[in-house]
Amino acid sequence: MQPAIRFDRIGLDLGGVAIYDDISFAVEKGEFVCLLGPSGCGKSTALRLMGDLLPLQRGTIEISGLPPERSWDQIAFIFQQPRLLPWRDALSNAAFGLELRHPSMPKNEREDRARRQMERVGLGRDLHKMPVMLSGGEKQRVSIARALALDPDIILMDEPFSALDPNTRVRLRDQILELWTGSGKTVVFVTHDMDEALYLADRIVVFSNKPGRIQAVLGVDHPRPREVLVDRALLARRNELIALFDELGEAKI
Ligand SMILES: Nc1ncnc2c1ncn2[C@@H]1O[C@H](COP(=O)(O)OP(=O)(O)OP(=O)(O)O)[C@@H](O)[C@H]1O
Ligand SMILES: [Mg+2]
Repeated sequence: MQPAIRFDRIGLDLGGVAIYDDISFAVEKGEFVCLLGPSGCGKSTALRLMGDLLPLQRGTIEISGLPPERSWDQIAFIFQQPRLLPWRDALSNAAFGLELRHPSMPKNEREDRARRQMERVGLGRDLHKMPVMLSGGEKQRVSIARALALDPDIILMDEPFSALDPNTRVRLRDQILELWTGSGKTVVFVTHDMDEALYLADRIVVFSNKPGRIQAVLGVDHPRPREVLVDRALLARRNELIALFDELGEAKI
C-alpha cells in the first residue's frame, strides 16, 4: 500500500545553513507518528514541507503518491497556538478553515460541519462564545474542530498541547486519541516530550541535531490507554529514547 507520506532523501538549506542532510522516512495510512527531537532540528520544517508551506530543494516528498503542491487539500494543520480570529465566535472560527478552502460551500453547510466537530470536541454548548471567553484548552479544541471540519486524510500537529497546563494537556491527548481511533486518518504529531510521544504514537521518528538525520525509528505497538511511567515495556522504550538523546549530546530535549 502507498504510504500517506514519504520523504525520500530530503536535503534542505535555510539562510545558508544545512537543516537536513539526507532524510528519508514514511508514514503509513492511518498511522499516528510522533516526530521527536531537539529544538531547532527541523521538526516544524518537516511539517511545512509536507503541507507545501515551504518549497522542496532536494529529494522527493509524496503525499498519497502526489507531490505536496497537489495534495495540500488532504491536509489540515493544528499549531501550538490556536490562532483564532478574536472578532469571530467559536463556531465561526471552527468554520473558518472551510471558508478558506471551500469558499463556494454554502455558509449553512460550513457551519453544520463545524458544529458537528465542535460537538465532538465537547464544545457544543459554547458555539457562540468569543475567543476571549474561552480557556486555553477550549481555544485549542476550537482549532482541532476547525481542522476536523475539513475532513482531512492527514492531520499535522505541531506541539499542539505544549502551551497548555499539564492537566489540560493530558485530557486533550486522550481526546485526540479518541478522535483518531477508528477514523482511518493519518496523524503526524511533533513534540519535545518523549512521554507524550510514548503515550500517543504507533511509531516515533527521532531526529538528530542539525543538520538533521533520522537517528532512529521506534515502534510502540503497545495497547492504549498506556501508562508510560508504570508499564515495564514502555519504560524500556523510554530508556532507549534517553540513551538516544545521550548519544545526541542532549541532556534534555
Ligand atoms: N525561514 C528560515 N530561514 C532560516 N532559517 C530557518 C527558517 N526556518 C527555520 N529555520 C531554521 O531551521 C531550523 C529548524 O527549524 P524548525 O522550526 O523546523 O525546528 P524545530 O525542530 O521545530 O524546533 P523547535 O522544537 O524549537 O520548535 C532552525 O535552526 C531554524 O532556525
Ligand atoms: Mg518547532
